[in-house]
Amino acid sequence: MFLYRSTLLPAHRSFVLSALLSLLSFALASDWIQYPSNGYATMTHYTLPEGFIAACGCAINSTLYPTAAMNQMAYGSSTSYGPACGQCFNLTLLDAFTASPPFHPNTTNSVVVKITDLCPYAEQGWCNATTSRPNAGGEYLNFDLSWPSASISSTFFPSDASYYGKDPGYSDFGVWNISYRSVSCEYWEGWNNSAALGSVANLGYVSCCPDNPMLNSNDTCPSYSDQAGISPYFHAGSAVTIVPMLLSPILPILLSVCML
Ligand SMILES: *[C@@H]1O[C@H](CO)[C@@H](O)[C@H](O)[C@H]1NC(C)=O
Ligand SMILES: *[C@@H]1O[C@H](CO)[C@@H](O)[C@H](O)[C@H]1NC(C)=O
Ligand SMILES: *[C@@H]1O[C@H](CO)[C@@H](O)[C@H](O)[C@H]1NC(C)=O
Ligand SMILES: *[C@@H]1O[C@H](CO)[C@@H](O)[C@H](O)[C@H]1NC(C)=O
Ligand SMILES: *[C@@H]1O[C@H](CO)[C@@H](O)[C@H](O)[C@H]1NC(C)=O
Ligand SMILES: *[C@@H]1O[C@H](CO)[C@@H](O)[C@H](O)[C@H]1NC(C)=O
Ligand SMILES: *[C@@H]1O[C@H](CO)[C@@H](O)[C@H](O)[C@H]1NC(C)=O
Repeated sequence: MFLYRSTLLPAHRSFVLSALLSLLSFALASDWIQYPSNGYATMTHYTLPEGFIAACGCAINSTLYPTAAMNQMAYGSSTSYGPACGQCFNLTLLDAFTASPPFHPNTTNSVVVKITDLCPYAEQGWCNATTSRPNAGGEYLNFDLSWPSASISSTFFPSDASYYGKDPGYSDFGVWNISYRSVSCEYWEGWNNSAALGSVANLGYVSCCPDNPMLNSNDTCPSYSDQAGISPYFHAGSAVTIVPMLLSPILPILLSVCML
């Protein structure tokens, strides 16, 4: 960038810059995983305390209802909000395929979740799928369910204590094979509570959480990281829920300073 500064006129410089930026955003956009409206996925769970503002910036009272984070490359942004924000999915537990032997419950438990958070990309773990390779369950989508949750039964994840209970690790299998289906948020438990819908008002442009966006519809959120020229593989660190909120307003400013 310093080279351009010394050798090009400002007009040329901005032309080169915008050409570079458009090339860059093309390269970035192709890294996001496109997925069908229904299929198989893996499901893990994580702790999102009630009242926390997660990456999308959804209304705080969304945490009173079933919510989930989606793996970064499918979520569509490496920080703050992305196209997955606000979308609702019906998730159905199939089997705990990492159990030994695999566990096939005799119940069919489902939950309709709203996506409010980003499950960060990392080399290891269940959120590590990319367009070119799935996660260790052979899937391109991982739903990280916020659980325990006041709105989801404590027995949502079945086990068989008489068989697996001898091993303490096996009352909670940690990861499940599930089927998912994109559904209208009218089926989400928080739908009738207006305080659970929409974005946190005073966050302004760093929040995007539509009431009822549908997969591939024209009312989904843009990719925050694409817009700000941040790498799709950017790693916000383990403090998923807070760090993006703090970083997001700062990053574009840092980037534009570097480009001057
Ligand atoms: C969710 O999936 C389960 C299992 O297929 C089904 O019984 C239930 O009706 C579905 N719920 C919605 C809202 O689609
Ligand atoms: C993704 O993470 C899993 C562990 O969950 C690991 O076994 C696998 O090697 C990782 N994939 C890649 C390509 O690193
Ligand atoms: C998940 O379940 C489906 C349907 O039974 C099956 O085709 C798929 O292989 C399973 N995936 C894993 C990782 O067990
Ligand atoms: C379903 O499985 C549980 C253990 O996973 C067992 O306790 C229960 O008896 C089973 N119910 C039926 C109807 O088979
Ligand atoms: C919302 O309220 C309507 C009218 O009372 C009811 O039919 C619907 O089931 C409710 N939706 C949810 C998701 O609870
Ligand atoms: C959110 O729910 C809590 C109760 O859990 C309530 O005290 C608070 O007023 C609600 N917030 C809004 C914005 O409605
Ligand atoms: C979005 O799509 C709907 C139909 O799905 C259409 O009626 C509406 O005009 C579209 N809005 C924009 C801004 O393109």
